Amino acid sequence: VDAPIVVNGAAGRMGRLVREALVEAGLGPVAGCTRRTRADGIAPTSTGGDLRATVAVGGVIVDFSHASATEDLVAAAEARGARLVIGTTGQSEAQLDRLRRAAERVAMVLSSNFSLGIQRILQLLPAMRVLLEDGFDIEGLEMHHRAKRDAPSGTARALLEALLGGSSTAPRVHGRVGAESRRQAGEIGVHSVRLGGVVGDHALLFASDHELVEIRHRALDRAAFVSGVVPAVRFVRDRAPGMYSMLDVMRDAAVPSP
Ligand SMILES: NC(=O)c1ccc[n+]([C@@H]2O[C@H](COP(=O)([O-])OP(=O)(O)OC[C@H]3O[C@@H](n4cnc5c(N)ncnc54)[C@H](OP(=O)(O)O)[C@@H]3O)[C@@H](O)[C@H]2O)c1
Repeated sequence: VDAPIVVNGAAGRMGRLVREALVEAGLGPVAGCTRRTRADGIAPTSTGGDLRATVAVGGVIVDFSHASATEDLVAAAEARGARLVIGTTGQSEAQLDRLRRAAERVAMVLSSNFSLGIQRILQLLPAMRVLLEDGFDIEGLEMHHRAKRDAPSGTARALLEALLGGSSTAPRVHGRVGAESRRQAGEIGVHSVRLGGVVGDHALLFASDHELVEIRHRALDRAAFVSGVVPAVRFVRDRAPGMYSMLDVMRDAAVPSP
């Protein structure tokens, strides 16, 4: 019998839905971790020591909490030989480094966006890089609900990385204000809009003097993300240590087992 799954951030917008989806997919029992007592029956455990106590040896922790939980999450996975599926965004370079080091011993799927549509866009973006050579200006726009904590979104970062390549040093500009804020050659504007209940809306804009190209993705509801988490959990359960992406999960799911 597979060890139970623990959802960290279980009382949050994503955590609640993910927990339901995992149970519905027959991957239960699914425990939840949250830092506060809730009226909805989610155990008032916290990250750190308690997360470690909640996850079984060889279990899976699914994390939709906050980047500040990274150290506790990794420590719990290392201590219990657990696997990780991480949807949380906004990690600092140091926190990402910590995850990369942990991946030498821990199998983890790290994805800033579990939706199929964004993954397909990530696959096609390297082919759009040619527009840079054609001299097009490029800017990114992302919109999210008013409670989103990190900016720009992890997805906006991932889209730009897929488009430009990981080693790009093109300067980023976040919003413009002032009497002399003209666009500089080669800069990439990345603009974060926060309002209402917008689930997730990303656009990459490419323009020359005469043409505007838009690649746009709108998540219509959070089910767009949740549906990717179930295959990611199945994938990571029997994986060797390493850091895997949602594209790895999709490639694996597309190949029928022998
Ligand atoms: N990868 C994807 O496809 C995807 C999709 C949507 C969102 N996200 C990301 O997922 C994360 C959660 O989003 P959300 O909209 O669900 O946020 P949310 O509603 O604020 O939920 C986050 C939950 O995590 C808990 N939490 C916050 N800080 C924590 C910490 N330091 N340690 C442990 N738990 C902590 C909070 O619960 P308590 O206060 O009760 O502990 C909160 O309920 C964000 O980083 C977001 O960007 C990813």
